[in-house]
Amino acid sequence: MLRVATELFARYGYSPIYTPIFEHTEVFARGIGEATDIVGKEMYTFLDKGGRSITLRPEGTASVVRAALEHNLTANGQGAKLYYAGPMFRYERPQKGRQRQFWQIGAEALNMAEPSADAELIVLLWRFFEAVGIPADNMRLLVNSMGDEACRPAYREKVAEFIRAHAADLCAECDRRADTNPLRAFDCKNPGCVAVMADAPLLRDELCDECASHYAAVKEALVVLDVPFTEEPKLVRGLDYYTRTVFEVQADAGLGSQNAIGGGGRYDRLMEQYGGSPTPGLGFALGFERTLLAMQAAKARVPSPALADVYVAAVDESVRAQAFSLASQLRDAGVAAECDHQARSLKSQFKQADRIGARFVVVVGPDELAEGQLTLRDMGTKVETRVSRDGVTTEVRRALGID
Ligand code: HAM
Repeated sequence: MLRVATELFARYGYSPIYTPIFEHTEVFARGIGEATDIVGKEMYTFLDKGGRSITLRPEGTASVVRAALEHNLTANGQGAKLYYAGPMFRYERPQKGRQRQFWQIGAEALNMAEPSADAELIVLLWRFFEAVGIPADNMRLLVNSMGDEACRPAYREKVAEFIRAHAADLCAECDRRADTNPLRAFDCKNPGCVAVMADAPLLRDELCDECASHYAAVKEALVVLDVPFTEEPKLVRGLDYYTRTVFEVQADAGLGSQNAIGGGGRYDRLMEQYGGSPTPGLGFALGFERTLLAMQAAKARVPSPALADVYVAAVDESVRAQAFSLASQLRDAGVAAECDHQARSLKSQFKQADRIGARFVVVVGPDELAEGQLTLRDMGTKVETRVSRDGVTTEVRRALGID
């Protein structure tokens, strides 16, 4: 899965970034938002020996933005496309598809304000799930706009008022949310709250002109790119940093209630929260384990790549050392080569060559070697040719199409 991501993300212009597994608590609290469940309840936070508050990262975006600022990755208006993969930690109640340590693969695009950037990221996420074999029919892409500082505050207040007016029918937590984070009430799973919030005002109807036209352009681009999506005006996501576009991919099978396999959105104000100049940004993260569950449900298998192009087989014990040194020579010449380290018979070595997907086997036999010769077998056509020991590297590279 990681290999699929690496190849696909590179094709979209993303480079890897590695951020620390733990950071100062402040990094996450500031970016993700004090009033979110993640910061309020789910972080693994402890004091280190110096008395500093440290947190195991619950997600990757805050760290990437912190690092981009620290290392000037977006100086002078330049864009940065970065991806990461690694473990994240959230103290949540474990259940199917929800672990306290889980892996995410994520991508962040910084300094890109155009709606085409939103569409590009959404397509990338969708194509990734397709590439690992989850059929489009088994997934749903939900999109929404969260507005910005021009239109959201008034809307937030409207929702808060709505919550206060329906407090009697809402759970205690949603009631409290009126003062802390009213939009989170849309995410409450309590059936009573779901029923009440079904009639709550929607931001879609209150977007300012800029947000409305940005959102319209994103949807238009998705139609052009032929990515099927559903507008979900109640999609609010669990992190405070979002502005404008948010999206989530849900899988239909294999996950039960934890069915979000990936999600993300735009966060045009986040850089400023870390003291940077206004720098738009957007990204997504997908859950590794949840994606695996969705793949299993779809009986999808990512074909494993060939581990070696060439297998160097020794006919018997007397030429084992020569086979090993030939494998090393091939590797030094840029060829992915493998040989036996388990005293296998020649027959088992051929089986192994097949198993790892080697396209060629070089057979090292004592009699041939005495004449300075080796046999090169094409595993596809089964054709065998004699090659000289001295010229074997050139022959192999040519056979593989490297030269
Ligand atoms: P998130 O929606 O919190 O977004 O997490 C992204 C994905 O991580 C989820 O869709 C889910 O597949 C997976 N995930 C989350 N929590 C768990 C868990 N406890 N166990 C297993 N899988 C889990 C973010 O983290 C944002 N940083 C995404 C983003 C990037 N937005 C902009 N840039």
